[in-house]
Amino acid sequence: MELSCASCHINGRGNPDFFLEGVSASPGTADVTSSLLSKVRGDDAFNPAPIPDIALRDGKQIRDRKSPEFFTKVHGLIAEEFDGQEPPRSVIDAVIAYMDGLDSSACTQGASTTAIKLGADMEAAESAFDIATRPGADQATSIFYLRVARFRLSRIHERFVGPDLAPQRRELLALSDGLGAMAESVRTGAPLTFIAPDWPAIAESLGEGERRSLYNPEIVRAAFAEE
Ligand code: HEC
Repeated sequence: MELSCASCHINGRGNPDFFLEGVSASPGTADVTSSLLSKVRGDDAFNPAPIPDIALRDGKQIRDRKSPEFFTKVHGLIAEEFDGQEPPRSVIDAVIAYMDGLDSSACTQGASTTAIKLGADMEAAESAFDIATRPGADQATSIFYLRVARFRLSRIHERFVGPDLAPQRRELLALSDGLGAMAESVRTGAPLTFIAPDWPAIAESLGEGERRSLYNPEIVRAAFAEE
């Protein structure tokens, strides 16, 4: 299941429209101790709660985001509640800093949506690659960010559908395989199979297909109309 924090907390806020069969009672609620989401925290009881707005710090939320309690809470959320991969310490610190920086007075007027753009996904993949390969990056950080880069590429891949975008999909798969091999060599300590992707060339080639991909809202509308 491909849920992320942002499925329920859009831009760190809430999501009044979230509804997942078996997890929600009504839109905007979720049972975060559902066994569907977590092997560790699953409690076999259906007890959905309203999804809180992290910026509001209301209800049961821990107000002091710099406290050890909050660190423990967030670590638990990532590693147990959603059965995530154990992240490097710097990643948890970054998530906490992000949540601590949220301000409920920003982005009123329903501005909490972000357009989905090929450029943004490419940039995210490239920055993750840069962090993974930065000199001095430790093993856990490299593996984690190579995985983030591959995840971003997979998001692009799923939007490049149809026979005429097959060359772009092949290109994405080849790159992702390369990053996978690199992560494997970091993990096993084998000599590093370092690859140096030509990001501008890849961006250009994908850019040529963007108009025909599901990054184009018109193509998305047409695809829904066919169903
Ligand atoms: C399936 C929907 C869903 C997802 C996915 C989700 N949350 Fe939540 N989150 C909730 C609900 C519901 C609550 C309130 C739980 C309660 O009241 O018991 C909550 C509460 C929180 C709180 C408040 C905790 C406190 O007491 O201070 C934080 C912080 C939080 N979530 C962060 C995250 C992070 C980080 C992720 C990703 C790792 C995440 N959430 C993913 C639904 C979700």
